[in-house]
Amino acid sequence: MELLQGLLNRVSIQRLESPPPTKAQLEVMLQAALRAPDHANLKPWRSVMVAGEGLTELGAILHQAQLERAPESDAQTLERCIKMPHRAPSILVLIASPKKHPKVPEAEQIQATAAAGHAILLAAHAQHLGAVWRTGWVVSHPMVREAFDVTADEQIIAMIYLGTPSVTPKPAPIISSQDFIKHWH
Ligand SMILES: Cc1cc2nc3c(=O)[nH]c(=O)nc-3n(C[C@H](O)[C@H](O)[C@H](O)COP(=O)(O)O)c2cc1C
Repeated sequence: MELLQGLLNRVSIQRLESPPPTKAQLEVMLQAALRAPDHANLKPWRSVMVAGEGLTELGAILHQAQLERAPESDAQTLERCIKMPHRAPSILVLIASPKKHPKVPEAEQIQATAAAGHAILLAAHAQHLGAVWRTGWVVSHPMVREAFDVTADEQIIAMIYLGTPSVTPKPAPIISSQDFIKHWH
């Protein structure tokens, strides 16, 4: 019952403040991720926690990356890049790291990583943390990839912003399932 409540009510929380997850809370999130469905149990992902000074360092990298992708960027855009990581007190960078396997194609390993990402969001919610899964251009920019030692075979699947909700979470929307199911024969 409790599990269902969490599954049905999780929402993203964009406004996050300190404190970041404790070590124990992070461990619960990682254990949940490690229980995600995973063909052949390859655990085809890794993650990197960014907090404290790391957020400032990441902001500086995003600033450089923005200058590289759009040298004409105005001061406001560049400032936004510097501040971007500070939208939460921590960011868990989730990286798909596919393994060579005779039966499990890369696509399935990416899917397994996404399932792990969802488990992290749910485990955050279950611990009254706030979380939001973000991507955007930053996840594929070479400077960002280099910062997290992302190899040519890997990809950043999510930047999961994590912290303490600074707003009351909005209620989960009510959506009819009828457009999403057909009963066959
Ligand atoms: C692969 C993926 C990438 C996403 N990238 C972004 C993003 O860059 N920025 C953003 O605001 N939301 C992004 N989202 C969506 C949010 O995480 C969130 O799911 C969405 O705003 C809906 O809110 P809800 O989770 O409360 O239903 C992404 C979601 C997924 C699954």
